[in-house]
Amino acid sequence: MYRCLGSNNGKVLLAILLLLCIFIFVNRHTNDIVEHTSIVNKTALPKPLRTFNGEFTTSKAAFKASSIMDFNVFDHKCKIPRPNPFSEDVMGIFEPPKFKECADQPDLFTVRYDLKERQYILQFNKSLFVQLFPNISDFGCACHEVLRDPDDSLTWKKGSIFSGRDWIVPRHVQGIVVECFELRNRSRVLHRDAFSFVQYPVNCNDKSDEERSRTYPSVIMLGIDSMSQMNFQRTMPLTAQFVRQLGWYEMLGYNTISDGSLTNMLVLLTGCSPQQWQHYCDIRQRGCLDALTYLWNHYHNAGYQTAYAEDIPTFTFTRRPVDYYLNPILKAFEKIMTKVKRLKYDYCLGRKQSFRYVFDYCLQLVQRFVHETPKPFFGLFWTKSFSYDDFSGAANVDKDFVSYLEQFKEHGLFERAVVILFSLHGQHKGPLMELSSSFLEERLPMLHIYLPPWYRKQYPKIAHALDVNRRRLSSTVDLHITIKKLLLQVRPSLCFDKICQECQSLLDVIPDKRRCKDASVPDHWCSCEPYSQEPITELIKILAKVIVYRINQFIFSNNYTMQCYNLELKSVLRVESKINFDFIGLQVPPPDELERYRIQFTTQPRGKFRGVVLSNIQANVMEMPEEHIKRLESHDSCVKDPLAAKYCVCRPST
Ligand SMILES: *[C@@H]1O[C@H](CO)[C@@H](O)[C@H](O)[C@H]1NC(C)=O
Ligand SMILES: *[C@@H]1O[C@H](CO)[C@@H](O)[C@H](O)[C@H]1NC(C)=O
Ligand SMILES: *[C@@H]1O[C@H](CO)[C@@H](O)[C@H](O)[C@H]1NC(C)=O
Ligand SMILES: *[C@@H]1O[C@H](CO)[C@@H](O)[C@H](O)[C@H]1NC(C)=O
Ligand SMILES: *[C@@H]1O[C@H](CO)[C@@H](O)[C@H](O)[C@H]1NC(C)=O
Repeated sequence: MYRCLGSNNGKVLLAILLLLCIFIFVNRHTNDIVEHTSIVNKTALPKPLRTFNGEFTTSKAAFKASSIMDFNVFDHKCKIPRPNPFSEDVMGIFEPPKFKECADQPDLFTVRYDLKERQYILQFNKSLFVQLFPNISDFGCACHEVLRDPDDSLTWKKGSIFSGRDWIVPRHVQGIVVECFELRNRSRVLHRDAFSFVQYPVNCNDKSDEERSRTYPSVIMLGIDSMSQMNFQRTMPLTAQFVRQLGWYEMLGYNTISDGSLTNMLVLLTGCSPQQWQHYCDIRQRGCLDALTYLWNHYHNAGYQTAYAEDIPTFTFTRRPVDYYLNPILKAFEKIMTKVKRLKYDYCLGRKQSFRYVFDYCLQLVQRFVHETPKPFFGLFWTKSFSYDDFSGAANVDKDFVSYLEQFKEHGLFERAVVILFSLHGQHKGPLMELSSSFLEERLPMLHIYLPPWYRKQYPKIAHALDVNRRRLSSTVDLHITIKKLLLQVRPSLCFDKICQECQSLLDVIPDKRRCKDASVPDHWCSCEPYSQEPITELIKILAKVIVYRINQFIFSNNYTMQCYNLELKSVLRVESKINFDFIGLQVPPPDELERYRIQFTTQPRGKFRGVVLSNIQANVMEMPEEHIKRLESHDSCVKDPLAAKYCVCRPST
């Protein structure tokens, strides 16, 4: 039985299992006997090209125009094409944005760590101050200190006015906001900055920790939200270059399981499906999240120091979930520091880009627990302020990102730790969604796994498995299992329940017969059966009207016309058609002559749907699976029957 809940919550053990693995899956592959790509010379064969009206041609001209398809994954049951990250259409809309600097003055305050005394020192650059504010003679500086109150609230520490000397940061302090102001008028603030600290852990058993840290790998997870494999190569070329070094493995068949950030994150951290945790409580309610068991809990129980930091909060816990938790410190900073929004999220917090607080914190942890006093440590560092709502935004931080990785390297991180650079899904909105590659942009997040040299030497089988799995289908659920498996490797006596039958760790070779349902990937999110975005033609509009007709028919024949509107097609938003490959990877007509279209549309009155239609060239609709009609917007419900509730656009209740 798989448990999502903490062991301290004995009476609410969830008995639901395998729900995650139960998805309606339409398997339309017929070729079971498949040869591997490498033995076939694809360039030697003409490739049929599909034209928009659904006809196929293999004429010479068409062959010239078509490009040879590359594949990320080319297995028996799964063929994921590899789109070119730098294709002409995307480079036409990709413009690295120029963000405004967060601060226009140089830093007056800097923080230094004294390795011998094991303490932080705050330094004030007086000569710079005089240079910046030549006519100000009477000024003072003060320190707001984030105290570890039960609610981590911010405390103004009176009497700590200082005017120029270095300040030794006491060991209990986790974060400070410093500011300088005119003494005559204290509300005239001249400069303000904020720092977090990872202090030297007193009362820890250094000797045995150091011994353990030689066999227990630290595990560092660095996340960038909404970043596909392709967009990562495109917008962060320097970082992409860094993770091509020896020891890194890029998982090309890593597939998302949902478009919700929260859902994805919870699946990664708990291994539980939304159905499982929803059964227990509403995650939007205070306290619900505290009851789940997260990856860091397993690591903590195995004697690791644990850390969690993110630039924009995803979760709110009522209890501190890890040993080193940046969120409350950032929240305290936010009360004092000015914020600058860019699109949806705060890009700047005070003098720094928001994501820098996360990586500075990570750097401090690396300095403490890898460099200074080795201890096994597990940390998750998640950023979204620059990447979430603008696909090109990451181009602006690429250089900074690499410079953090270089600093981690200087402190020995890549000699000791397993490092995972990952995302959970691609972009869902914006200009990338207009391209034919949008299907894969959404579904293939980036995942790069690094094994340090000693680990590769000690576990050559794992290194080999990762290498093979680069081109096998995998998912967020597998990544969750992989991170637990890293722990099992050093603590074989631990026992984790199986999450689903065919989900598995990336540290063991994944079978080449894998399908999406084996990896808990829902049908809609499966890249193994790729679709390509198509122009909205008259034919498509007709097909969309037929779906609307079916919906109306259902409402009518089940007597819901009193509660629900009769719908009309308003506009088609998007259409994708399924791409079919033969066993050597050539694009071919659908085996049953039926084109499979996925159409997204809106209705009058308000309604947003997606439906699947199978149609032949003459547009005689052949099939319209009811379970493939989805309501896309959240809506109120005025009828009890779940199927009717999905279709029903409610009339105002009388
Ligand atoms: C594949 O076929 C093309 C065209 O016939 C030829 O130029 C190329 O050398 C072949 N490649 C291999 C690996 O045989
Ligand atoms: C003070 O700031 C100036 C200008 O940024 C810099 O050149 C100098 O090295 C700094 N002094 C110290 C002690 O950090
Ligand atoms: C200091 O000098 C600047 C420019 O020289 C001026 O704008 C500002 O008002 C002065 N401040 C005070 C407090 O005199
Ligand atoms: C103090 O400074 C603030 C901000 O510059 C200003 O609004 C306020 O009027 C000043 N108060 C006095 C007493 O000068
Ligand atoms: C709908 O209503 C009619 C007339 O009241 C009734 O004869 C019929 O059985 C109802 N159909 C359903 C599916 O409830």
